[in-house]
Amino acid sequence: MTFVVTDNCIACKYTDCVSVCPVDCFYEGENMLVIDPVECIDCGVCEPECPADAIRADTEAGMEEWVVFNEKYSKIWPVITEAKDPLPSAEQMDGQDGKLETHFSEKPAVEAA
Ligand code: SF4
Ligand code: F3S
Repeated sequence: MTFVVTDNCIACKYTDCVSVCPVDCFYEGENMLVIDPVECIDCGVCEPECPADAIRADTEAGMEEWVVFNEKYSKIWPVITEAKDPLPSAEQMDGQDGKLETHFSEKPAVEAA
């Protein structure tokens, strides 16, 4: 099994999850993170750390598509190993429906200058 990041991370990107992952398997898009399902050791410590409750075990119902999604973007986005400030929209966007359709960006994170 693995843990996966789901749609409520979009436009929030709190990054609390990153600071607790022992194997640095989070990858960063412009407005969302994903987990590399192969690198994840299923320790579960990131799940309760997410303020947006966006992290799920893949054993939960309906997670198959999120495993595919996390795997896809973990291969093309850069690794993130340290927490950073949430997106300015985080509080407002937390819990909004349909963010995958309306707010998701396929772009990788922009490196800080
Ligand atoms: Fe990292 Fe553990 Fe979360 Fe997997 S379950 S992403 S290894 S903190
Ligand atoms: Fe996203 Fe939650 Fe991590 S909002 S960046 S999965 S702490």
